[in-house]
Amino acid sequence: MDTQKKIDPNKLPQHIAIIMDGNGRWAKNRGKFRVFGHEQGAESVREIVEACAELNIPNLTLYAFSTENWRRPKLEVQALMKLLVKALDKELPTLQKNGIRLNAIGNLEALPEKARKDLISVMDRTSENTHMTLTLALSYGSREEITKTIKEISLKVKNNLISPSDINESIINNHLYTRDLPDVDLLIRTSGEQRISNFLLWQIAYAELHFTETLWPDYTKAHLYNAILDYQNRERRFGKTSEQLNA
Ligand code: FPP
Repeated sequence: MDTQKKIDPNKLPQHIAIIMDGNGRWAKNRGKFRVFGHEQGAESVREIVEACAELNIPNLTLYAFSTENWRRPKLEVQALMKLLVKALDKELPTLQKNGIRLNAIGNLEALPEKARKDLISVMDRTSENTHMTLTLALSYGSREEITKTIKEISLKVKNNLISPSDINESIINNHLYTRDLPDVDLLIRTSGEQRISNFLLWQIAYAELHFTETLWPDYTKAHLYNAILDYQNRERRFGKTSEQLNA
């Protein structure tokens, strides 16, 4: 039986998040510039979005550009932004055809104007789609997001809109960029690195973590199916005992 058929449709992760890593190494292994790896990485994005839509995974979040990535060489940053604009332009019909809503999280103000405008336009035009939400984390950093949240809540306290004793997890959730998304169920990182790199620190509190050696440009639907099967074989206890769950 092929891997896809082994997936239990009743136990699907409702939110998959991916740290797409290894584009640079993939290109270097072939004696090419890093940008070539990012271009191939964009093809993997296409394949994995399609796979999630086919499987009926309602939420997919991709770490496309971190707050720390601004420190990369200027030419690489420019190439990544150009690739984003190109992908937005090219993929709009596919998003519409598959009922995919595009969403973005991060400090979007920091993006170049053309990239920000195109992004907002595609988000607006896909806003009524309900089959799946594809979220791109762009100029995103979890510590920046949490800092922004604390500032906003503090201001509300200062203005007597809420009292400190009212602050709870739900209020914090409602101030995060991810306020309309459920918690992450499955976090995947490619390329053999085993760290979180400032991605969705609050939202992955109970996520299952899946690390693979595969470099992002080599990542295919089959790899995703394996990650989901791995997830479905885990026992998610959320603090309870195994006996409580099976009672
Ligand atoms: C990590 O590989 C990848 C990125 C920083 C960017 C991810 C971008 C894409 C997959 C391309 C386009 C995306 C969209 C949404 C169209 P790395 O450069 O850190 O690789 P390395 O660790 O091997 O150097």
